[in-house]
Amino acid sequence: MADNFDVIVIGGGPGGYNCAIRAGQLGLKVACIDKRGVFGGTCLNIGCIPSKALLHTTELFDHAQHQFSKVGIIASNVSIDMKAMMAHKEKTVDELTKGIAFLFKKNKVEGIVGAGEITAPGKVRVTTKDGTRELTAKSIVIATGSDVAPLPGVTIDEKTIVSSTGALSLAEVPKRLLIVGAGVIGLELGSVWRRLGSAVQVVEFVDRIVPGVDSEVAKQFQRLLERQGFAFKLGSKVVGVEKKKGAYAVAIEPAAGDTRETLEADVILVAIGRRAFTDGLGLDAVGVKRDTRGRVATDAHFATNVSGIYAIGDVREGAMLAHKAEDEAVAMAEILAGRSGHVNYDAIPSVIYTYPEVASVGKTEDELKAAGIAYKVGKFPFTANARAKSNLTTEGFVKILADAKTDRVLGVHMVGPDVGNMIGEAALALEFSASSEDIARTSHPHPTLTEAIRQAAMGVDGWTMQM
Ligand code: FAD
Ligand code: NAI
Repeated sequence: MADNFDVIVIGGGPGGYNCAIRAGQLGLKVACIDKRGVFGGTCLNIGCIPSKALLHTTELFDHAQHQFSKVGIIASNVSIDMKAMMAHKEKTVDELTKGIAFLFKKNKVEGIVGAGEITAPGKVRVTTKDGTRELTAKSIVIATGSDVAPLPGVTIDEKTIVSSTGALSLAEVPKRLLIVGAGVIGLELGSVWRRLGSAVQVVEFVDRIVPGVDSEVAKQFQRLLERQGFAFKLGSKVVGVEKKKGAYAVAIEPAAGDTRETLEADVILVAIGRRAFTDGLGLDAVGVKRDTRGRVATDAHFATNVSGIYAIGDVREGAMLAHKAEDEAVAMAEILAGRSGHVNYDAIPSVIYTYPEVASVGKTEDELKAAGIAYKVGKFPFTANARAKSNLTTEGFVKILADAKTDRVLGVHMVGPDVGNMIGEAALALEFSASSEDIARTSHPHPTLTEAIRQAAMGVDGWTMQM
């Protein structure tokens, strides 16, 4: 087999596999290397997909217990079959990772299972289970993703002190689950285990949950989670963990340091963020620079300081999201094929897949205030949406922020039922520089939850009608 390529992509996650596939479509000769054994990266194997499979099963379970009777369905003695739940998760992952192998074949990408190391510009050594292969290419794309950020003094064993990876495969439901970090992972996986019966406590360093989410949305989200049984210790830090009679005694202190208290837990989930993964890549030997946060430093076209070496996805700056990695992947492949790849970072949506969900795109109200940008607000609660009422899913609201002068939509923020499936419309509006009036005058089907977006847009100019 020839060992000479136009492009070698190191890492087979959403950044790497999409870059390889798009480059293959554009006629480039491509290899994609991943050491995991199967392609799909964090997202398919231990991230987006398995977490959503568990969130789906447990949401149905929760509804069966708490919602069914309200709409006349009698389902007594509903119970969970953990083995079947995990089998569904694994089957989903397996089918999707096989799908990537199929797409590689279809687009003439050579997928190589092994660890890649850049030995010089244009040169990559791959260590496979059968030995090493020396590859050459005009361009090398680093797409090695990210890994769990460790909590100093706490050793993750993935059994009772877990990262997200262990939390996706716990053997039994912990009686008491303590989560460090009220971010996306903590709240999604906390929801999974709470629905199955865990008492969930979350210790968060700053004085609010989900930093970065619009603060009005975050406040409402926190209230809804607390109503479900989440307990939050905000503005607090973990200062020690001790095992006592089979359980953990977790010492916490206010972030500023002061009176110490002890919480008890059977399982601890460490979810305080992720960091760029560059181990074993040979970056220092080749002279590839990193930024102050250890991410591969790149310019706006993903180029590093070393000619012919690029980086995309979680390993470089920006949101650690699968679709951001995918957007960069496509732009990267197009640039390498001589086209003009581009990513609009102002229109990348994000979703927290809890119940209810949180979804946003564009600037938050906090960001607009801080930047001194004059804006108008339109809001609409799901309590006034006919479909939400019929579905008994009336928690939450939609908020649209538009430029006070031009009416251009600057941000859309939602907490509510299925808003993750609704945010695409708002992303498209931002991508096309829509005004709030454009959304307000676009026909939305009745009765749907999306009417709440239209009504919020009408609200920007004060003519909300369905109240
Ligand atoms: P990764 O997916 O991390 O892939 C990098 C790959 O490179 C890995 O497979 C690794 O094995 C390989 N690799 C590393 N070094 C080498 C080497 N030297 N040689 C060969 N291979 C190497 N994002 C969302 O948008 N939506 C979600 O719902 C969501 N849920 C998540 C849930 C969890 C629990 C986690 C942990 C993450 C979640 N994310 C989600 C984030 C998402 O998974 C990442 O943003 C995304 O996977 C980043 O893609 P990537 O291609 O940059 O890197
Ligand atoms: P995160 O950045 O979302 O949240 C981490 C939280 O931990 C923050 O609230 C932070 O203030 C807090 N924290 C940091 N240090 C702490 C400490 N010492 N003690 C207590 N709290 C501390 O990170 P998370 O949840 O680990 O997720 C990592 C990344 O994975 C996210 O940034 C996200 O991009 C991605 N992800 C995306 C999902 C989605 O799109 N639905 C789902 C899961 C993960």
